[in-house]
Amino acid sequence: MLEGKKILLGVSGGIAAYKMANVASMLVKLHADVHVVMTKNATHFITAQTFEVLTKNKVYLDTFDETPDDKVHVPHISLGTGVDCILIAPATANVIGKIANGIADDMLTTTVLPARCPILICPSMNGYMLENPIVQDNIAKLKRFGYQIIEPSEGYLACGYEGKGKLPKEEILVEEILLRVAHEHDLEGRHVVVSAGPTEEPLDPIRVITNHSSGKMGYALAKAAAYRGAKVTLVSGPTSLEPPLGVELKKIHTAEEMYQQVTSAAETADIVVMAAAVADYTPATVADQKIKKKDGDMSIPLKRTKDILLSLGEKKRPGQVICGFSMETEKLLENSAAKLEKKNADMICANSLTQEGAGYQVDTNILTLITRDGTEQLPMMSKLEASHRIFDKILQLNV
Ligand code: CTP
Repeated sequence: MLEGKKILLGVSGGIAAYKMANVASMLVKLHADVHVVMTKNATHFITAQTFEVLTKNKVYLDTFDETPDDKVHVPHISLGTGVDCILIAPATANVIGKIANGIADDMLTTTVLPARCPILICPSMNGYMLENPIVQDNIAKLKRFGYQIIEPSEGYLACGYEGKGKLPKEEILVEEILLRVAHEHDLEGRHVVVSAGPTEEPLDPIRVITNHSSGKMGYALAKAAAYRGAKVTLVSGPTSLEPPLGVELKKIHTAEEMYQQVTSAAETADIVVMAAAVADYTPATVADQKIKKKDGDMSIPLKRTKDILLSLGEKKRPGQVICGFSMETEKLLENSAAKLEKKNADMICANSLTQEGAGYQVDTNILTLITRDGTEQLPMMSKLEASHRIFDKILQLNV
C-alpha cells in the first residue's frame, strides 16, 4: 500500500522510542521507503543501528551528519521536503515545545521546519507532564498551524503513573500514516455512508434472528473511503471487527434502527453503499419474557422490514450515488440487474454465495459490478481492493 511512498519517522527521547522499530518494520513491509531521524536522547532507548538494519537507510542524528550522497544535498532540507509524510513519535514535551516555537537546534527540528507534507505528532510522556498548561498550549499552537496531533492513549505508563500519555499501538500509528498517503484523496470533501454487518431481530429477551454476515465487506469499504479522504459514516450491525480509523461509527441492532441511521446520514451523503445484510422480516411481536417451550412444533409470525435501499433510491438527490449489494444462490446476474432497476440504484455489486473466496466471513470477494452502462466482472481479490474498485467505478458514474 505504500509502494513509492517516502515516510520519515522522527524519534525523540521517550521510553516508547523502542516501539518505533516495529512501526518502521511494518511500514517497510508495506513497501514504504522509510527514513529515520532521531534526537540524541532517543539513542538512550534504541540505537540508530536498529533502524538502519530495518529500513536500509542511514539514520540521521546530527544536522551536520553527511553521507557521500549528501555532497550536493543538505540532508535536513532534502529529507524534510522530499517525503510524503512525517510521523514524530514519541514526541517529547521538549520536541513539541521546540517545534511549536520555531526552534531548530537539532536534526529532527531542522528537518520539520521546511516540510510541506502532512506532519503527524504523537505526544508521549508522563500524564502530569502532558497536562502541564505550557505543554497543552504548545500542542494547541501546533494544531493551529496545521500539525496533526495523534492523541496519546491511556494506561499504565513506564513511570508508574496510570493515565493519558502512552504511545498508541504501533498498528494505529501505521494506520494514521496510511490514512494520509495510502491513496490519492479523490473522495476529499465527500460524505460516504456505508452500512455493514448483519441485523439482529429480537424474538424475546434472549433470542434473535440474524444471519452469517461478518461485516468485513462493509468495514473494508469504510476503510477504503477513509483512505481516499472521504468523511465516512459507518452504520454497523453487531460484528467483532474494529472500526477503521477516521470513521464515524453508528452501532445498530435491528433493521429498523439501521433504516433510521442510514436514512438520516444519507441526507448529507454524496455516496451511500448498502453492504449490510439487512433482515427482510422481523418477528411480528417481541415477547417481554423468555418464550417457554411447549409440546409440539411452533411457528413465528414475521412482518416485513423496510427496504432501506429501495427507500434511498426513491429519495435520491441529483448527483447522489446509491450502491447496493446483492447476494444470490441462483441467477446471480439476472436477479441482481433486476434490483438495480427496482431499487433505483446506480450500481449493484453482485456477490455469488456459491464460489469459494466470495461472500460471508472470508477476506476476499468475487464481485460483478452492475451499472446502467454495463457489467464488470472482477476477479477474486481482497475486500479492501474490491472496495477501491467499487469507488473507482462510482467516481466514473455520470449521475
Ligand atoms: N437491503 C435493504 N433493506 C432490506 C433488505 C436489503 O436495504 N430490508 C439491501 C441490502 O443491503 C443490499 C440490497 O438491498 O444492498 C439487496 O439485498 P438482498 O438481500 O440481496 O436482496 P433483497 O432486496 O432483500 O431481495 P431478495 O431477498 O428477495 O433477494
